[in-house]
Amino acid sequence: MYGLVRPLLFALDPEVAHGLSMQAIEATWRSGAHHFLARRPPRLPTRVFWRLFENPFGLAAGLDKNGAHVDALLAMGFGFIEVGTTTPRPQPGNPKPRMFRLPDQQAIINRLGFNNEGVDALVKNVASARRKGIVGINIGKNADTPIENAVDDYLYCLERVYPVADYVTVNISSPNTAGLRDLQRDEPLRALVGKLREAQEKLRSQHRKDTPILLKIAPDLEDAQLDGMARIMLDAGVEGIIATNTTIARTAIGGHKLEKETGGLSGKPLYQRSTQVLSRLRARVGEKIPLIGVGGIMSGGDAVAKVAAGATLLQCYTGLIYRGPNLISECVTALRARREGSV
Ligand SMILES: Cc1cc2nc3c(=O)[nH]c(=O)nc-3n(C[C@H](O)[C@H](O)[C@H](O)COP(=O)(O)O)c2cc1C
Repeated sequence: MYGLVRPLLFALDPEVAHGLSMQAIEATWRSGAHHFLARRPPRLPTRVFWRLFENPFGLAAGLDKNGAHVDALLAMGFGFIEVGTTTPRPQPGNPKPRMFRLPDQQAIINRLGFNNEGVDALVKNVASARRKGIVGINIGKNADTPIENAVDDYLYCLERVYPVADYVTVNISSPNTAGLRDLQRDEPLRALVGKLREAQEKLRSQHRKDTPILLKIAPDLEDAQLDGMARIMLDAGVEGIIATNTTIARTAIGGHKLEKETGGLSGKPLYQRSTQVLSRLRARVGEKIPLIGVGGIMSGGDAVAKVAAGATLLQCYTGLIYRGPNLISECVTALRARREGSV
């Protein structure tokens, strides 16, 4: 079915196609016809962060920035979804065009820049959803907040999303907000994580609820920096790490006509590097921190290899654009076969 729809969507501007697809997914779910949209994945219960996931395959952040389609997306068969990135105040994001398809590479370059309706709108959406599944909320900073005040934006969002989120992801790795990735350096990272953990402690007793905090990291880190981050995250008791966000590197698509477009590259060309980062992190943190592997999953085989590299859970975004919703059941089926020991 997606094979028929895809050429029509790909004939449209990527953001227009995105808007139409979201409307179609929402309308299909509301009419109760969502079972026709995608094959239902098998069950593959997975317990992480003291929560039971229907299966370990999730939707990565950025597709539903305002948490406006939580139930429709969960109904597609994801074991969990992550909404956002959300910021304290609404903001329009970067000027268009800001999203580009590279079909010959099964890739996307985006420089959206956290276009979103603000954290209050997202919380309202998520709170009113039925939520038959796990919902993580990804938080960031406004573009016009000076980087030295970034911590305040994260604390502001954390306080608001804490009661409704199953987990909170702190996004310090988007390449499309100036200065954001500098928060991955040792000192700013230690300070940020320390403040967030303090706030989490207070929120835990205020709401009588445990909401784990995860950090999402970039693939463009030197090994030494990655090792330093792993140590800081272990020391601070960060509860999960998402590896990785999009890359600013263009080595994997060298010579492509769109290689000069600024922004984050995702999809197939990101697979190798994001998986290397994942496996290095696993070697550094041992079994102490659950890791979510994301970056370039385009098939069941890719999903299995990410788990073999150390992922506890998985996410995808670009694979969904190129392969359609059946990618979900393909990946869960492959993961189940791996768990049952038949591959
Ligand atoms: C169009 C687009 C928008 C994205 N927006 C966000 C975002 O708002 N926050 C975030 O943490 N990651 C965002 N991402 C990154 C994805 O969540 C994911 O980490 C990355 O694309 C690698 O996975 P993939 O190769 O499966 O797409 C975005 C990715 C794309 C393609």
